[in-house]
Amino acid sequence: MPAPNSEIHADLLKACLHLAENFAENHHPNPSLSPSALAAFLNHPQEEIAKAFAALQKEDLISESGSLTDAGRRRALSLARSHRLIEAYLLEQEGVPLTEIHNKAERLEHDLTPTQIEKIADSLNHPRFDPHGDPIPTRNGWLPKIKRTPLQKWHAGREGRIAHIEDEPVQDCISLLEKGIARGARIRILSEDSLWHHGITLSLPRHLWPMISVEPLSDDDEPSENCKTLEEFQHGETAKIIELDPRCTGPARHRLLDLGIVPGTLVTPDFAASFGGPVAYRIRGTCVALRKEQTTGILAKKVTPSAP
Ligand SMILES: [Fe+2]
Repeated sequence: MPAPNSEIHADLLKACLHLAENFAENHHPNPSLSPSALAAFLNHPQEEIAKAFAALQKEDLISESGSLTDAGRRRALSLARSHRLIEAYLLEQEGVPLTEIHNKAERLEHDLTPTQIEKIADSLNHPRFDPHGDPIPTRNGWLPKIKRTPLQKWHAGREGRIAHIEDEPVQDCISLLEKGIARGARIRILSEDSLWHHGITLSLPRHLWPMISVEPLSDDDEPSENCKTLEEFQHGETAKIIELDPRCTGPARHRLLDLGIVPGTLVTPDFAASFGGPVAYRIRGTCVALRKEQTTGILAKKVTPSAP
């Protein structure tokens, strides 16, 4: 099978796969993709896209309507696997900020060999999703079907969880991440332009809503009505931990888990240092000092502890 001979060819194949995935997810038939539609999607000069489109057709990788042939789909899945694994690697192993991984992966995916990509997969223990929530195709080209709902179609007031944040257009993705929107966060629609997002109310322009997909909470998730963040609890109140902030990852998350801050644990603020210093919390019979930045992302519910 001839391989795409340029980065534009590869980007075009990935775009065809991406759009077909999105249409399938929303139960629409396969889209008819013209070179001009693909040029607009990729923000690339139409003339170059038209040339690449014709070349891929000649190589029997896409059809006249822009749908992938079997060979084209295999090739696009392999490219998507590389891109998504590199994104996961950059975030988890290299500490590259979430806002930068997409663009770096776009460059690196053309330089790494299949052997290097499989080494990355091994080092990450074969993740199923990339940091944006996109499924990573398996080595033999299987792509799991995902059920999720675009935010603009989610029921107002219903609690869900952010399953996916679109990584293109890149600037819109960066805007979302800079606002603190996080994959894995709990979310509720409050009004036309405001959301409850993991304990915080924030406004979000409507044009960014289609960038976010939501899934229902799992049966094990306790609803977060009347929750607040741990830092808002006062001396004498008892908080039941509901969930840690999904943005708290790596060593910082492990530190909290080691201290016993896991869902279901009861925590009581004991006393605070002056000038915004750490607050002492009583957790499972021991006293633990936590800084404000550690407690702002911890969702908790006020409870009345039962008498001993
Ligand atoms: Fe990406």
